[in-house]
Amino acid sequence: MSGKDTSSTTLSLKRQAAVYAVDTFVHSGMILGLGSGTTALEAVRYIAECLQSGKLSNIVGVPCSIWIEEHAIDAGVPLTTLDENPRVDLTIDGADEVDPHLDLIKGGGASLLREKIVAQATAHEVIIVDESKISEGLGIRFPLPVEVIPFGWTTQDTFLRSLGAQTSMRLTPEGQPHITNQGNYIIDCAFGQIPDPYALAEQLQSRAGIVEHGLFLGIARDVIVAGSEGVRHLKRP
Ligand code: 5RP
Repeated sequence: MSGKDTSSTTLSLKRQAAVYAVDTFVHSGMILGLGSGTTALEAVRYIAECLQSGKLSNIVGVPCSIWIEEHAIDAGVPLTTLDENPRVDLTIDGADEVDPHLDLIKGGGASLLREKIVAQATAHEVIIVDESKISEGLGIRFPLPVEVIPFGWTTQDTFLRSLGAQTSMRLTPEGQPHITNQGNYIIDCAFGQIPDPYALAEQLQSRAGIVEHGLFLGIARDVIVAGSEGVRHLKRP
């Protein structure tokens, strides 16, 4: 989770959004998708506290990344898999950018593929963010992460540039390609404001070698935004 804003103010906002979401949407007995990222981690930690205090019981979580799986185990949240429980009641996840339609860019933590698989198996997707993630349009504040298989990845880079993106391969601090949980690469694509995210999603989906992209369109039902003025609850109409 490098490159994230870890200031105490931002951490406090993430916690507020997480607590609101858990208190509002989580009930005992649920199968929960555990999103990845520093904001989703606050939800996992608060769920663990609620399990310890007895406020919640009989919860099992489906982790969206190895990173959140390790944190959930440390916190004491019981885990399951999508194969054991293919229907997830509720997922609480973070996002990198949220537009006025509650469409999202995700994948800043490179977990977009598992996050989308879990989201598509989920009855109710809730997104928690601090106010810095709110945007007038997707692509303005955050480049679009695109997950590609390593074989022939430079051809994907050329394709993504042909669509108008300025591309950069996601690297580790040591300068090596970042490898996702599925063994793929991430190409970050700076498009500027994406005029038609649905059209772009179709173009990306039809390309062999592109495994998934970080456009989460029509997926979030509720977005909880914590800011200096308090917590706002945005709902998809
Ligand atoms: C990981 C994600 C995260 O949800 C997104 O990057 C937000 O992370 P954070 O809460 O740390 O800002 O999509 O792939």
